[in-house]
Amino acid sequence: MPRPPKPPPELLDICKRWSETIEGISGNAARMEFFQNELPGFLQNQALFEKLLKNIKTGSPYPDLRQAQMIDDEILLYLNPKRLFSLRMFLYGPGDYTPIHDHNSWGVSGSAVGELGVIRYGRQDDGSVESFAQLLQAAPVYLNPGEIELTRPLDEGIHQTGNPVDGTTIMISVYGSPIRRLFINRFDDKTNKVEKLYPPRIKKKMLALQALKNFS
Ligand SMILES: [Fe+2]
Repeated sequence: MPRPPKPPPELLDICKRWSETIEGISGNAARMEFFQNELPGFLQNQALFEKLLKNIKTGSPYPDLRQAQMIDDEILLYLNPKRLFSLRMFLYGPGDYTPIHDHNSWGVSGSAVGELGVIRYGRQDDGSVESFAQLLQAAPVYLNPGEIELTRPLDEGIHQTGNPVDGTTIMISVYGSPIRRLFINRFDDKTNKVEKLYPPRIKKKMLALQALKNFS
């Protein structure tokens, strides 16, 4: 298999330093705190973000846009070899928000460019009814470039993020190692429906297995 394209050296240096430090920190709370302190400074690297955008514009192999992620606007920037954290970039156009979703890990997110809207939801039901959830929306939070917010795994972190205004917002997120669950949940707060969202690669595999039954 071809090797994944490498990040630019200045980004790789930061990710290697993070990797070395995070391996010496145990526990999710302490790891989250580490990135809570690191991310605001990282978001100041405007020259790096400009370089990444230019790479995307010119079709450079890095960042790899062909690697499909769970959320459409998501681009994987770095994956720690031990899966202790990943660094991701999200590009939101005017008024674009992700669907309402949960996460399989903790996360620290912030804006590198533009205003970032975060709408959190509290889950009101106990999750005992399959494919059903009752959500209560909290007041939206708006972050300026350099400001960060925290996400927790599963029901504690149901939210949607996006761009409440014109222009483009760049959200940068660090996520911790995921729990053993292959999907995230996508919620519809109007119909109370919950849908399992699988990574495109897993979804295709599941569909292939299903389709194979026609051949037996
Ligand atoms: Fe999210």
